[in-house]
Amino acid sequence: MIFVTSYTPEEKGNLVRFYESFDQERRCCGLPPMKREAIEKWLEELNEKGYGFISKKGEEIIGHIAVVPKNSEAEFVVFIHRNYEDRGIGKKLIEFAEKFLKEMGIKKLVAVTEATNRRAIITYSHLGFSVVGRDSFYIYFEKIIDFS
Ligand SMILES: CC(C)(COP(=O)(O)OP(=O)(O)OC[C@H]1O[C@@H](n2cnc3c(N)ncnc32)[C@H](O)[C@@H]1OP(=O)(O)O)[C@@H](O)C(=O)NCCC(=O)NCCS
Repeated sequence: MIFVTSYTPEEKGNLVRFYESFDQERRCCGLPPMKREAIEKWLEELNEKGYGFISKKGEEIIGHIAVVPKNSEAEFVVFIHRNYEDRGIGKKLIEFAEKFLKEMGIKKLVAVTEATNRRAIITYSHLGFSVVGRDSFYIYFEKIIDFS
């Protein structure tokens, strides 16, 4: 059974292992970092600045989303294990985080992805995100959270 839950520091070793085994060619915007020390530092920073949610199958982490709120907006990054792509897990994690942020009063979600990242672009678009900017390398998305 696959489920989504909050990330807690007890899961740090498990999450570091998830990112250590993440394929280099599936990295996005330079993330996740490649070396163990850099992954640990990145996760600590994300945890200090915001919140994380993980998708687990038994004890194994198969997906992670980190959200960083700033004023009334929140930015996120999301990563799914290659063996579990295209099963709706990325969408589920983003929806879970959105619900949490909405309860905090966050009004807008923002994300950036590489212009060649077709899967991320489709995932965000299907979740109601709009393209608000683009350059040669990146596409910038946002979604106004519906409070009606
Ligand atoms: C991008 C990512 C988070 C998406 O997660 P996921 O669990 O695979 O996505 P989901 O299964 O929830 O949804 C995938 C959507 O893309 C579509 N899709 C899948 N493969 C596709 C392809 N090759 N081309 C176009 N669309 C594709 C699916 O049909 C699905 O859309 P729909 O169900 O709304 O019709 C995941 O692939 C990932 O971790 N990629 C590597 C890291 C990354 O790019 N992170 C995001 C940017 S920081």
